[in-house]
Amino acid sequence: MRRVYLDNNATTPVLPEVLEAMEPYFGEHFGNASSIHHHGQETRAAVERARESVAKLLGCRASEVVFTSGGTEADNLAIFGLVRPGDHVITSTIEHHAVLNACKHLVKQGCEVTCIPVDGRGLVDPADVKRALRPNTKVITVMFANNETGVVQPVAEIGKIAAEAEVYFHTDAVQAAGKIAIDVNQIGCDLLTISGHKLHGPQGVGALYVRKGTQIEPMLHGGSHERSRRAGTENVPGIVGLGKAAELAVAGLDRSNEGGDDLKMAAARDRLERDLLAIEATGLNGEGAPRVPNTTNIYFDGIEGEALVIALDLKGLAVSTGAACSSGAIEPSHVLLAMGLSRERAKASIRFSLGKQNTPEDVDFALGFIPETVARLRQLSPVWNKVPARTT
Ligand SMILES: Cc1ncc(COP(=O)(O)O)c(C=O)c1O
Repeated sequence: MRRVYLDNNATTPVLPEVLEAMEPYFGEHFGNASSIHHHGQETRAAVERARESVAKLLGCRASEVVFTSGGTEADNLAIFGLVRPGDHVITSTIEHHAVLNACKHLVKQGCEVTCIPVDGRGLVDPADVKRALRPNTKVITVMFANNETGVVQPVAEIGKIAAEAEVYFHTDAVQAAGKIAIDVNQIGCDLLTISGHKLHGPQGVGALYVRKGTQIEPMLHGGSHERSRRAGTENVPGIVGLGKAAELAVAGLDRSNEGGDDLKMAAARDRLERDLLAIEATGLNGEGAPRVPNTTNIYFDGIEGEALVIALDLKGLAVSTGAACSSGAIEPSHVLLAMGLSRERAKASIRFSLGKQNTPEDVDFALGFIPETVARLRQLSPVWNKVPARTT
């Protein structure tokens, strides 16, 4: 059975070049990167090469890159590494749970948190961020690109506001890395998160950019790895894989180097989006906002998103809803609700996210049966005839 994977914002397949780069570090190059003998020096050199590659991806110095176990840890390290009881933090309503739940925990520890709302397009207004500043504001944490809609936030403007107010700025760039160019100096951030498995690297590895001079308190207490910012023996194969993925991401965006992965993804995504929006009673979540090139989030009124995901999976197409299953009940996406969608429309929304491996034929395949599947589910739906959009 043919299978097409359009859920790359959940995780991306590891590219063959990445796997090839990692393989020796599961075998012949097994040393502990802290050992001073030959075996340790070999893996230390590989870790430092990967650090250089990640630094190139982000436009920073290698010494400013801290390897972590993934995006969640990097987000937590940025937040808990800086914020102390009594401090105030500004974030947004559409953050990933790695940031939102970290902020919830801060409240329990005696911190204050302001959640900035978004508009109907899913965009944070920098003026709201500025208005939320208080004398005790320590950190602003607003994501670069949203994982559900792909909407790109005005991070450079927020960076300016943070700099003027002398407040730290962290941005979760997990869904931006590899899809659009990242330059920490242009953004003006002090901390930035990436995750290996969202840019065709392995799962379980990520990195936090920490601007030189920014003192963060480590979360893990142990050895002095990562310049005492993250204790624990390095995940060498993972770090090597992240480094290779970062290299390939840079090359993929470099127009002078046969790059253009982003343009190819955008062309395929735009065609998919255009044809899906031609189905009646559908709409684009994030319409009118800048978006990363690989993501489209569409509502299909009158259906349950989960039912569509399952029906498409049975035909070989992997997509997802932004919904979370909490205590047995499926809750609509907090991101779509924050954008003002009704619960029904949020639950009728599907995210399609492309990766470097997808081809125009993958889009043909998906378009070959999505319209009829939507029509069939609508026929079975008790609410479809009552959906007002159908008659307007
Ligand atoms: C925006 C964003 N931040 C953080 C994370 C967490 O990254 P990881 O899975 O590496 O812990 C994700 C993963 O879905 C994400 O999309």
